[in-house]
Amino acid sequence: MRRALRAGLHIMHICCIKCSMSALQSTYTPFPFRISHGAGDQIISDSDQSYLDFYGGHCVASTGHSHPAVVQAIQAQAAKLIFYSTAGELAIREQAAQALIDFARWPDAKVFFCNSGAEANENALKIAGKITGRKRLVSLEKGWHGRSTLCLSVTDDDKITRPYAHWLAASTRLPINDIAAAQAMDFSDVAAVILEPIQSMAGIRACELAFLQALRDATRKAGTLLIFDEIQTGIGRLGTPFAANFFGVQPDMITSAKGLASGVPMAAVLLSDAVSAALAPGDLGSTFGAGPIACAAMLATLGVIAEEQLMPRAAHIESKIRSELAALPLAILGHGALLGLKLAKAAQLKSYLFERRILLGTSSDPSVLRLMPPLNCTDQALATLIDAIRYFFQIQESAA
Ligand SMILES: Cc1ncc(COP(=O)(O)O)c(C=O)c1O
Repeated sequence: MRRALRAGLHIMHICCIKCSMSALQSTYTPFPFRISHGAGDQIISDSDQSYLDFYGGHCVASTGHSHPAVVQAIQAQAAKLIFYSTAGELAIREQAAQALIDFARWPDAKVFFCNSGAEANENALKIAGKITGRKRLVSLEKGWHGRSTLCLSVTDDDKITRPYAHWLAASTRLPINDIAAAQAMDFSDVAAVILEPIQSMAGIRACELAFLQALRDATRKAGTLLIFDEIQTGIGRLGTPFAANFFGVQPDMITSAKGLASGVPMAAVLLSDAVSAALAPGDLGSTFGAGPIACAAMLATLGVIAEEQLMPRAAHIESKIRSELAALPLAILGHGALLGLKLAKAAQLKSYLFERRILLGTSSDPSVLRLMPPLNCTDQALATLIDAIRYFFQIQESAA
């Protein structure tokens, strides 16, 4: 009886692996292989196949997968102290905040550390509500800011917001790059405008400088706070520390996550002097925010970005992709290492590249594929990608 039960359990176990049954609640459809480990710009499957990761672990692997300097910093900190909340002062936490301010070139800013993009945006929006005493929020059409309640309120994705419509805050959408609409909008009851300087999920839709300037002017006049959601555009990805530096437009708050600590969960809200001064002790908090391991990983990440000159590298990635693919019938969108390839046969190109073990991201625009590789992806990886894309078009041409 016991043997039969054991045999049954064994068969069930094999079946579960085969039909991918899992105790995990499903979220996104995963790649059709299991990841064993990662190194630099590659991830390696458990059947030992390596894939070039132009998806960057969802724009997270800023310094590549398991960069030795980041691994070493995490290991050393883990041996010293894994965690203590902000109830205890830690030198490494102070150091991390100062390093981020220096990196951002925003010397009079303050930093609030938390754990995820949604948590950073939720706090930034909440802060704006407190300071202004206003309820309404403004974001851009097709903007994507996370899955917490205030973040959903400013996210323009009906599929994920509709079930919670009864809980969402009052918010209005502005069309991207519509300067006249920005100038005509009445911001007098608006707590904050939040935007991605480059809308990633929407299909790499970049804000134009004049539009950002118009919004900066209008929000400043109305006493509305301007928040740049730099969860994808920050940490050197555009070739500058943040998109705020890239455009030369200073928001009141910047939110950062994803690549901030090379994949160790960490997020930050950078607050202007005035915003910081309007807050009282106890207004903000997060148990795990600024844990010492996250701080160590972040310091190592910023160290690698400086030492390996990864900001110029991001600019190099863009110029290489733009120049080498210029003759092909596709549009290249975005800046730095946050790029979109727009073409009618995007789905076919994605499958073709996957067959060649090159990963990239899709977007909510079915004609746009996203490239958000590690900033230190090699020239060899770039050449492999470029050759594969060229070859795809040759095949298309000869089939036509
Ligand atoms: C622009 C942007 N904002 C916010 C978020 C939410 O971040 P998280 O998933 O860490 O909560 C994301 C996640 O993809 C994002 O791309």
